[in-house]
Amino acid sequence: MPGIQPEDKIDAEYKGDLKGMFLLDNVSRARGVYEEGKHHEEYQGFIQSKHSKSGELSCITCHSPHASKSKPMKDTQKICTQCHDASYTFQKYMPGTGKTADNLFVRSHTFVPDQKRPQLPTDYDIVGPPEYYR
Ligand code: HEC
Ligand code: HEC
Repeated sequence: MPGIQPEDKIDAEYKGDLKGMFLLDNVSRARGVYEEGKHHEEYQGFIQSKHSKSGELSCITCHSPHASKSKPMKDTQKICTQCHDASYTFQKYMPGTGKTADNLFVRSHTFVPDQKRPQLPTDYDIVGPPEYYR
């Protein structure tokens, strides 16, 4: 799996299904952080982040693996302000980069401070927050 074992470099040119897993353009190369280009790379996105390297956050800081209608998910709209000021929002720092369908993208988990990727549409933009937030 590119971007996990050191020998499978995240910025190598892969072929077949692995092609395009990460954005390999000048923006990524300049800062050495490779945003997700497809929809199954949240782990590799995250392990490049200061969140991961701090050792203070993991997936379940923000996501609840056992959420259901009777047991609400953690509210990703409010989660950032547990540790940051209100200028930190997932809309600002987590643009959709991982293509999952035509014109539908999964948000980047690299948490770079100067995120300049375009805000491509995510499920949140199209259908709004999951219904158990409402
Ligand atoms: C700092 C908080 C945070 C951490 C840590 C985090 N995520 Fe996320 N994640 C989010 C937010 C915010 C969204 C977007 C939620 C939304 O659009 O409603 C998201 C979206 C996702 C999605 C897309 C869900 C969808 O319906 O499109 C996946 C998959 C995902 N995260 C996996 C992971 C995995 C795997 C990890 C750990 C490697 C992780 N996340 C760590 C905040 C986080
Ligand atoms: C549990 C606490 C916690 C939560 C929740 C959290 N963060 Fe962080 N965040 C951190 C820590 C710790 C760092 C690393 C600080 C450092 O090493 O400089 C960080 C760093 C960042 C950075 C990089 C800042 C920089 O200057 O390099 C961004 C961007 C960021 N977080 C965005 C978010 C967003 C967006 C959310 C919500 C989806 C979020 N964070 C939720 C603790 C948190």
